[in-house]
Amino acid sequence: MDSAEAYRIALEKRQALQTEARGFGIDEAFISELVEQFYRKVRLDPSLGPVFARVVKDNWDPHLAKMKLFWGSVILRSGDYKGKPMEVHRKVIGGEPEHFTIWLRLFEETLDEIAPSEEAKALFLERANYMAPRLKLAMFGE
Ligand code: HEM
Repeated sequence: MDSAEAYRIALEKRQALQTEARGFGIDEAFISELVEQFYRKVRLDPSLGPVFARVVKDNWDPHLAKMKLFWGSVILRSGDYKGKPMEVHRKVIGGEPEHFTIWLRLFEETLDEIAPSEEAKALFLERANYMAPRLKLAMFGE
């Protein structure tokens, strides 16, 4: 297979995944709402709130914008997020392993409230559950 062929296959795969996600009712407006509502909960949470307050400070608008690009890239394959989550979490001071459990619980709670379908909820949770142990490892090592 030459590189043009590989590129064509990758594009088709990306298109198929995006079409599937949109079929579950996921679009940019939903991702925006999910991120806004989830971080509203995070900021109010007695464990997570202070960690984010210390790191994000009053830069919430850029943080939320970045998280919308992140989920758009993960779920809709937009390719717009260019960050390095592992490196970023390695530098987050004051996190504790239990924070990941709380993070995932609040994420699921938000999806229960507003996800357009069960499939949409499952897709986001699957990605979050995949990333959580990896980010945890980045934060705390083995
Ligand atoms: C599966 C769970 C998680 C996912 C998918 C996730 C994802 C992300 C992503 C994509 C970013 C943006 C990185 C960038 O700047 O490019 C971010 C930033 C951040 N995350 Fe997480 N995260 C998770 C769990 C947590 C937990 C448990 C904590 C802390 C208790 C945390 C604290 C932070 C903080 C403070 C930032 C902002 C860092 C900064 O702006 O310097 N994250 N997260």
